[in-house]
Amino acid sequence: MSIRKITEYPAEVLGKVGKPVTEFGEELQKLCDDMFETMYDDEGVGLAAPQIGLSLRLFVMDCEGIKLIAANPEIIETSGEQSGQEGCLSVGKVPAVVVRPDKAKLKAQDVNGEWFETEAEGYAARCFLHETDHCDGKLFIDHLPKMRREMVIKKFKKEKKLYG
Ligand code: NI
Repeated sequence: MSIRKITEYPAEVLGKVGKPVTEFGEELQKLCDDMFETMYDDEGVGLAAPQIGLSLRLFVMDCEGIKLIAANPEIIETSGEQSGQEGCLSVGKVPAVVVRPDKAKLKAQDVNGEWFETEAEGYAARCFLHETDHCDGKLFIDHLPKMRREMVIKKFKKEKKLYG
């Protein structure tokens, strides 16, 4: 296993719709092991392939007791609304309040290509939505009004300058 370099905003790959995952099994498991290790190292709860520079529809997460690998993820149902803080390893974890559905149902393939569906609410649902967005070339800041988006980017750039 190895820790991969996190791709940061405004890298082009973060804004691209990922390619579908077509190869399953051992190689994919190895990639996901690296993604988990990278995510834990950076104290994240989710990590999508574009965040390590791979334009692929794939994410891993370990959030509120839900640990999974999601290849070719789709959000097939949402309900309710929640407002809460969110951050992203690709934007220096600068937090911002994002309004999202409170419940979300995820459909995806596991490491062996088997389709599964699973539901979550609250923070774990937020994670499903945030990571699936990554696979579609979308960042959490894209959900923010222009002024707040610019504030997050400004803060991220400033902290990057200060701490490298
Ligand atoms: Ni993120």
